[in-house]
Amino acid sequence: MSLTVTPTGAALGAFITDIDARQISPEDAKALNDAYLKYHVIVLRDQNLSDEQLVRFGECFGHIEKARFISPLTNRDDIMVISNIREDGKVLGQLPDGEMSFHFDRIHQAKPCRGAALHCKETPMAGGDTCFSNMALAYETLPEATKQKLAGKFAVNSFTYTATTRAMKDGNGPRATHPIVRTIPETGKKALYLCRLMTDRIEGMDIAESNALLDELCDHIESPRFIYQHKWRVGDILVWDNRCTCHARTDFSSEERRLMKRVTIGDNALPMH
Ligand SMILES: [Fe+2]
Repeated sequence: MSLTVTPTGAALGAFITDIDARQISPEDAKALNDAYLKYHVIVLRDQNLSDEQLVRFGECFGHIEKARFISPLTNRDDIMVISNIREDGKVLGQLPDGEMSFHFDRIHQAKPCRGAALHCKETPMAGGDTCFSNMALAYETLPEATKQKLAGKFAVNSFTYTATTRAMKDGNGPRATHPIVRTIPETGKKALYLCRLMTDRIEGMDIAESNALLDELCDHIESPRFIYQHKWRVGDILVWDNRCTCHARTDFSSEERRLMKRVTIGDNALPMH
């Protein structure tokens, strides 16, 4: 039986059913990639993968990159563990607590990742949702004058672990410059490529003009009409296109455990510029 694709009904995302993520045929892999390109976010429910199986599943979408930190909760160097689980007061995973504002993973690097897959192992009773915003739709719906203002422009993106907004940046984190509107090679779609957490400034504008435009664009991309909010269930696997969606996390109780395993999907395409 072939897999079934059902759109979420929000601005992006689709549920994939009639599939066992431990056994993906080449036809399934192609159908998954097609759905990924069309809906930007795909969700498979009620799966239970080992770390090895999660890596193999992630390989349907590209090569898997190494994690930047190795957690004691895995024995693999290509699994990123996102968790607030602590042992003797020491946190065992990355990004343990609280909300995170909208961002693209690794946008501060010269070659950011194509996407990522998250597999939910433990989740709090409430909160810790992940919100995805459709950057292709956000671009498409901009006024023509704004599109023209952004054409050919580049922005500087940086990573400061403790910052939650641009205003909190100290300016010393790792950084990369990227086009503020990027084109997805497989579909030719244009997508906005900026976010509240990591985009510092637009090149070629004075800082006041850049700040004003970034604030306006960040408000635009965070509008509910572009967003799918995923409420996690244990067993979910969610794959997102990190080139044309940005994501944020809602707050949750630090008293409850949250454990997610992630594989990061590399980008084989040429650098953006
Ligand atoms: Fe992220």
